[in-house]
Amino acid sequence: MSQRPIGIFDSGIGGLSIARTILNKFPHENFIYFADTKNIPYGSKTNTEIKNYVSSVVDFLLKENVKAIVVACNTASANMNHLKLDIPLIGMIEPTCREVVKTTKNKRVLLLATEATVRSKLYSNCLKKFQITPFLFPAPEFVFLVETLMHNTAKSYELTKRLLTPFVTEDIDTVILGCTHFGFLKNEIQKVFPEALLVDGSNEVAKELNLSLKTEPIKKGKGTFKLYTTGNDKKFIEQVKNLKIKYDQIISVTL
Ligand code: DGL
Repeated sequence: MSQRPIGIFDSGIGGLSIARTILNKFPHENFIYFADTKNIPYGSKTNTEIKNYVSSVVDFLLKENVKAIVVACNTASANMNHLKLDIPLIGMIEPTCREVVKTTKNKRVLLLATEATVRSKLYSNCLKKFQITPFLFPAPEFVFLVETLMHNTAKSYELTKRLLTPFVTEDIDTVILGCTHFGFLKNEIQKVFPEALLVDGSNEVAKELNLSLKTEPIKKGKGTFKLYTTGNDKKFIEQVKNLKIKYDQIISVTL
């Protein structure tokens, strides 16, 4: 049993949609959430830039003595193959693909993600093994909606409908929320595809974390949840409160 924390990170608040599921499943563990808000959005950056951000955040988390890292950002997950760590490193893409394969019945799948994630082709390659060719839609506008706390507003419903309407006649049965920010736009996306299942990979990520922890999970006491931001901490506190996330501490850092 190890009291060492588990690190979770994203470019911003999107990864909190994944952290919610993980924290529920591991209530006794200590968690650190890192939001690289100074460098958001990752999705419009070059692979080299993204890889550099990922390396800096991972170095920070390693100094915090984390026992595992969940990369709760699809864009960062598509740019982490340069890392060689002695602790488990869990990305979003493979677990999410596993969820898609379990979910889809007709193999009509729509990937919503950032430009960098779509460009990486990792989802397409992973799903190809199961004879699934997803429809691809890069949606940086959705990241902006969530970061500015505009989700669940008339504007977010209108924009989501406008951008996704071209796919409503495609008989889509599974929508991949291939950017963790989109977990906060589930209502809007579901409204456009009322029959489809929305998949964010969080359950499979939690399962993989459980299997990969080399030590016994903590079974007693309430775990702590500490958040770090590289950006404006006042704005970050407001965002986290708006998302109704309970936390112990928010700390602003420079990498
Ligand atoms: N939340 C990130 C993801 O899952 C992307 C947001 C960004 O562009 O920084 O891909």
